[in-house]
Amino acid sequence: MKEQLARAEAAVAALRETRNDRWYPTFHIAAPAGWINDPNGLSFFKDRYQVYFQHHPYSTQWGPMHWGHVSSTDMVTWKREPIAFAPSIEADRDGVFSGSAVPSPDGETLYVYYTGHRWANGVNEDDGNDQVQCMATSTDGINFEKHGVVVEGPAELPHFRDPKVWQIGDTWYMVFGACSADNRGQVWLYTSTDMEDWEFDSILFEDPDPDAFMLECPDFFPLGDKWVLTYCPMGPKPAGYANRNGHNAGYVVGTWAPGEAFVQTKDYVLEDWGHNFYAPQTFEAPDGRRIQYGWMGSFEEPVASQASDGWSGQLTLPRELTLGEDGNLVARPIDEVKKLRNATEEFGNLSLGYGESLVLAEDSTAVEIELDLDLAATTADRVGLQVHKTSDGHHSYVYYDALAGRVGIDSRLSYAGAKGYRAAAVSGDKLRLRIFVDRGSIEVFANDGATALTSFSFPADGPRSIELCSENGIAAISGLRVHTLRTIWED
Ligand code: FRU
Repeated sequence: MKEQLARAEAAVAALRETRNDRWYPTFHIAAPAGWINDPNGLSFFKDRYQVYFQHHPYSTQWGPMHWGHVSSTDMVTWKREPIAFAPSIEADRDGVFSGSAVPSPDGETLYVYYTGHRWANGVNEDDGNDQVQCMATSTDGINFEKHGVVVEGPAELPHFRDPKVWQIGDTWYMVFGACSADNRGQVWLYTSTDMEDWEFDSILFEDPDPDAFMLECPDFFPLGDKWVLTYCPMGPKPAGYANRNGHNAGYVVGTWAPGEAFVQTKDYVLEDWGHNFYAPQTFEAPDGRRIQYGWMGSFEEPVASQASDGWSGQLTLPRELTLGEDGNLVARPIDEVKKLRNATEEFGNLSLGYGESLVLAEDSTAVEIELDLDLAATTADRVGLQVHKTSDGHHSYVYYDALAGRVGIDSRLSYAGAKGYRAAAVSGDKLRLRIFVDRGSIEVFANDGATALTSFSFPADGPRSIELCSENGIAAISGLRVHTLRTIWED
């Protein structure tokens, strides 16, 4: 693989020279240049957090997949590592697809399981593909040895990919996403006692939605006394505010124990209600927290940064997952994210009258806004933040809509990129928002992670202000702080 990796590094270095940083993230993980999608191989190995991701180093478009890599001791400051995988064996000839990583019980070896992808016709997906699950190992998380195929995809399955592995007692478990012979989205479960020989256990889950023909990137993990299955169904139709993106990610909750069936106790819910959240993966941190990264990107091209900026796609902030009292998934930025704050402006309590607005920042590139709204005292139709606002009037709008009872991100007046709006229901008398604005994106967490929205936002040239507004009534604000954030990169 050495040769292929050297070529890939040279390609990404050349593309890096062309990179335009106007939208390039400062506090989200991204490749130095080129395309990225799914987070892969999330793990804590040899005292470092390891984050890999699907990567095409040769262009800003999706292409034969490699794995990019970054690592960190604290999940706050990150080091760029060399590209970890390139297609180099027959089984992964056309792509080292998504997968996961687990340290061996003695902590000395990192085992990576990924999907080896081949196009049946050698050029594209038109005549189908061959997908097999492969294994690789490393003693440093940087240099990997490929061991080839460990699970052949059953021949009758058109799609069979994205292994996620975990351990309980002496047994290792692996789930994959599958498209059954009759086009139903399923999750298959395999087990192993030595990490190398894998046996079919059961079909853990079939999506009740007959439109869902493939479940990409399944992840299955315990939270409290429940098990959560996150997955990305391909095919579901838009339904109201849900499933409006070309690719959407969600979850079901249920009970499960080794040897038993998964019993679903909660219907499918979207995980994130923004424009750009897909293929999330979790891992268990050494302190037991369940931490998730998602891909902030889109397969629906063009993404504005693809044309001439030299890069496309970034990961979300790391989110700690828990189950709320209502049984829904709660996803809040891990506490460590607060360490990125390097200056804070306090606005305190205030009330904005009819049609009033307040400039919170004249020019901001990387900020976190904490905004608490007293909904009982708010009479405005909408209370919003114009983010990435430039002198030509372009901006993205992050808002609370009292009529709809929703928090949304509206991109209709954004300078570039998707133009629609997305919104998620919120409840209660108080609304607590944490809004992270990077150079090309917005992540909104409402009510301590009960609701999340993640979207690209590509501003025009010039200073980017942030303006708070109240539409047609009073906005009662019980807390307002703006933090500027430092970069995550060590160099
Ligand atoms: C999801 C996905 C995975 C696949 C990978 C290929 O975004 O399509 O199913 O392994 O991306 O890049």
